[in-house]
Amino acid sequence: MGRRDRRRSIRGAWRGGLTSDTRLRRIDLLALADLPDGTMQMAFVDGIDQVIVIHTGGTVRAFQGICTHEYFELDKGFLTGGGSPGPDGRPVGTITCALHLSRFDLADGEALDPPAELPLMAYPVIIEDGRVLIEVPEGPLPVNE
Ligand code: FES
Repeated sequence: MGRRDRRRSIRGAWRGGLTSDTRLRRIDLLALADLPDGTMQMAFVDGIDQVIVIHTGGTVRAFQGICTHEYFELDKGFLTGGGSPGPDGRPVGTITCALHLSRFDLADGEALDPPAELPLMAYPVIIEDGRVLIEVPEGPLPVNE
């Protein structure tokens, strides 16, 4: 089974819901102090996978760092407006890929414009002792591609 196939099967299992047998791991990405509100930063997981960490409106979110359309790093893109309403009723914002300008909703990673069709995989974020961590199933990081 190739790397891509492995990822897809794991993604499917994760999306299908976590069971009591699912083993999770927490991954320390960066210091919250290094990510002021209104900024984003790429972090590496296992020395391979890239995760884009975004701090906007007082909320920190983490998504796969590579666009779902083609291989392009999202930290070369821009934080932009729009997106789904947040708890205060205001749009949470979007991230725009710099290569073909697809926007992704920061609420859930949904692709809002072509050519991208698949959403960015979003990872649950935990803030602990001033650090930003994600909690994901053990094994390869799930991504959409
Ligand atoms: S690579 Fe991101 S929109 Fe094409």
